[in-house]
Amino acid sequence: MIKFTIITLFQEALEPYLKSSMMWKATEKGLAKFDFVNLRDFGLGPHKSVDDAPYGGGDGMLLRCEPVFAAIENVKAKDPSAKVILPTPVGEIWTQEIARRFVSDAHYIILCPHYEGYDERILSIVDYKISLGKYVLTGGELPALIIIDSVVRLVPGVLGGETSAEIESFSKGNNLEYPQYTRPEEFRGMRVPDILLSGNHGEIAKWREEHSGTV
Ligand code: ADE
Repeated sequence: MIKFTIITLFQEALEPYLKSSMMWKATEKGLAKFDFVNLRDFGLGPHKSVDDAPYGGGDGMLLRCEPVFAAIENVKAKDPSAKVILPTPVGEIWTQEIARRFVSDAHYIILCPHYEGYDERILSIVDYKISLGKYVLTGGELPALIIIDSVVRLVPGVLGGETSAEIESFSKGNNLEYPQYTRPEEFRGMRVPDILLSGNHGEIAKWREEHSGTV
C-alpha cells in the first residue's frame, strides 16, 4: 500500500478529490491511504501562528520552521522511513517518469506551503522538491493532488484494466497516445477512420503506431 500524509492548513480543499473516483477506489481497495495533518495544530502561541514576516523585509509572510518541523517529526516518529515532498515552483519538474519512480509501498509526507513562501531552513528536512510547472500557485494543495493522482493511478490494481496505465500515453518514453473513438461511427459529419472498423488487428496496430503522438 502506498501512503500519503498531507500536511496542510486546507484539508477541506483536498478531501473532496481524494474521496472521489479513482482515488477513492484505490483507498477502498486498500491500495492507497491518505492521511491529513493540520499544520495549525503545531502553530505557535495562543493564535497557533504558522507564519511570520521575512527578515530583511519584503511582502508577504513565510511559513515558519518550528511548526513545520514539529508536524513532520510527529509523523516521522511513527514512521521514520517516510519521505518528505515539498511542492515548490523552484523544484524538479514533475514528469511521468518521476511519477513512475514514486510507485512503491512507500510513505510520502507532502508539505503544502502557503503564504508567500517558506523559511529556507525547511529544505533541510525535505527529500524531494517538486515543481508542477513554470507558474506560481497560491499553495501546495493542487500540486499535492496532482502528484498523488499521477502516482496512485500507476499502482497495480488501481485502474480497471491492469494494462491501461501500461499502454497509454507517456508509458514508452514521451510518446503520446493514438487517437481513439467510440460509438457512433459518424457524429456531425466526423467519421471514425475506416481502418478502426475493419477488424484487421495488424493494420489497426500499424495505424495506431503511425498516429501516436497526435493527441
Ligand atoms: N507552489 C506554487 N507554485 C507551484 C508550482 N508551480 N509547482 C509546485 N508547487 C508550487
